[in-house]
Amino acid sequence: MSAGRVAKIAAGTVLGVGAVGAGCLAYAAGYEVRSFRLRRLQVPVLPPDAVPIRILHLSDLHLTPGQRKKQEWVNRLAGLEPDLVIDTGDNLAHVDAVEPTVRALGRLLDRPGVYVWGSNDYFGPTFKNPLRYLTQPRRTAKPSDNTLPWQDLGRAFKQSGWLDLTHTRATIEVHGVRIGFRGTDDAHLGADRYAEVAGPIDRNEVDVAIAVTHAPYLRLLDAMTADGHDLIIAGHTHGGQVCVPFYGALVTNCDIDAARVKGLSTHRVGDRSAFLHVSAGLGTSPYAPIRFACPPEATLLTLVPRDAE
Ligand SMILES: [Fe+2]
Repeated sequence: MSAGRVAKIAAGTVLGVGAVGAGCLAYAAGYEVRSFRLRRLQVPVLPPDAVPIRILHLSDLHLTPGQRKKQEWVNRLAGLEPDLVIDTGDNLAHVDAVEPTVRALGRLLDRPGVYVWGSNDYFGPTFKNPLRYLTQPRRTAKPSDNTLPWQDLGRAFKQSGWLDLTHTRATIEVHGVRIGFRGTDDAHLGADRYAEVAGPIDRNEVDVAIAVTHAPYLRLLDAMTADGHDLIIAGHTHGGQVCVPFYGALVTNCDIDAARVKGLSTHRVGDRSAFLHVSAGLGTSPYAPIRFACPPEATLLTLVPRDAE
């Protein structure tokens, strides 16, 4: 084969790969990032004969005022009429995002709800080298001067009756079932102090024990499972955000394994085990507005009796 022909084939290959890459990027940024899905899962954690309890899990909205499609989609979720809403943080991505977030949640704020904060509620987005996400996937977040009005959002949540679970215990009764909650601040910031709410679950006080935190770091999953929680709820991972089709996530942005980056799984410590639900979340940093093979999602978790299976 002549040198000219080899050069032509090489140039064609480079152009072809470039075109596929550009196509994937256009799809990821132009379509998938706004391709919101509702995932539905059953979790067998209720006492025998209990009526199913429907929990809407929202996470990682990373909302900006201009994200109208996301706001409208979230607003329609109220039609599900969940018994309870759990919000695992990273709601904000703009200094003016509090009102749009409250408007988007709309009638969901009339339902009982609990929440914890993520680092992106406290601090605004900053540009980061996207390659760092792949090369330093467990890097913890640092506080910055670019603060967001998370206290205003917290006031709106509290006025609606939602409970802030940050280093707090709370019990909510739904259909006669006492759900005990414990929550922490964001482990990705190193702000988690689980010791403040730790201790064995008292089955005389609660029928179901749910732990809520933003980032599913193993130190929290271990401690929450060892205490006897039935279910642990988290977000933060964005499901890996940019995934490989038919393979899955490359990174989790914390120290859990990629197999549990989103969805329902099990966490085991000794002879104890807890269900773990990690939401892939509904947003991204405005500086990395792409999702690939990992659409944005919310989850409707239906708690059913332990013997339901
Ligand atoms: Fe997030």
